[in-house]
Amino acid sequence: MTNELIINKPDDMHLHLREGELLSFVLKDTVRQFARAIIMPNLKVPVTTVDLARRYFEEINGHGYDFQPLMTLYLTDRLSKEEIRKAKESKLIHGVKLYPAGVTTNSQEGIASVDSCFKIFEEMEKNNLPLLIHGEVNDHLVDIFDREKIFIEKYLIKICQNFPSLRVVFEHISTKDAVDFVIESSKNVAATITPQHAMLSRNDLLSGGIKPHNYCLPILKREKHQKAILQAAISGNPKFFLGSDSAPHLTSQKQSACGCAGVYSARTAIELYADIFDKNNALDKLANFSNKFGADFYSLPHNESKIKLIKSNYVIPNELLFKDDKITPFLAGQTIHWQFSEISQ
Ligand code: DOR
Ligand code: ZN
Repeated sequence: MTNELIINKPDDMHLHLREGELLSFVLKDTVRQFARAIIMPNLKVPVTTVDLARRYFEEINGHGYDFQPLMTLYLTDRLSKEEIRKAKESKLIHGVKLYPAGVTTNSQEGIASVDSCFKIFEEMEKNNLPLLIHGEVNDHLVDIFDREKIFIEKYLIKICQNFPSLRVVFEHISTKDAVDFVIESSKNVAATITPQHAMLSRNDLLSGGIKPHNYCLPILKREKHQKAILQAAISGNPKFFLGSDSAPHLTSQKQSACGCAGVYSARTAIELYADIFDKNNALDKLANFSNKFGADFYSLPHNESKIKLIKSNYVIPNELLFKDDKITPFLAGQTIHWQFSEISQ
């Protein structure tokens, strides 16, 4: 039985850091465990230009941690081809994020018509700038549990066919349909996997009382899908890599009549993944999933510093005090079996 694991420092390839005081609060959790993270651009004023991304980068960097934020641009129909070229030249921007308008937190300025973005996709393909996709349709006539599957059928197939050299990250996949799609697509199509989609099904959200802290988008699906996500994560297929989608919201805004979507997992992210992989006899696959496959997909060098994980029980705090409110971490009050220990250079 393995009780200790030393791996190269991981990267979180999908992370929400927010801004201001909340950024300061959550950043320390991520930098403790991760060398780099792909930073989501869905701020209140979305990060739609290279200049805004640079300002956000400086805000994050200003905290002085040994951590590299990998910035992204928020796709709107105002994004120009010149801005794509500027993004590529900047070396600061690592992808462009597509949110269908209204689909999730701060996505109002997202895309109303995917077809209208084809000129931009063409420019991104030319400049080898990845497209990061929140793959759900925002159609109130479509059942919320079917929105990812319908997005694949209506849009994703078309995008990948029309732009075969465009690198696409299908973010936070939540269905077997998405797993199958990614496996069957070319090497230019990959996916991030969150702890919650690998661990939980919709019963963990809705059965025996509603659990607002397990509510995220894409919403948790039935067990068949959760099992497919878990298998993809531990499969050793380089198309699947770590992206926590840690997305903090105040507890008061989650435990409300209209609760926000998002799971705050950054406090224990790598420990959660270690627990998942260990439970499924796949600890030997954790390193590549967390520090190699994502870096390779984004054409980044591998991290050289190491972290140590130790098998030891750890009770996740019930709440984290933040100003005069709090943030409830993912799996609050529950025991996980791996603990982050230390870093060596
Ligand atoms: O649950 C989610 N929360 N899904 C998203 O796509 C966005 C995120 C957030 O920003 O809160
Ligand atoms: Zn996200």
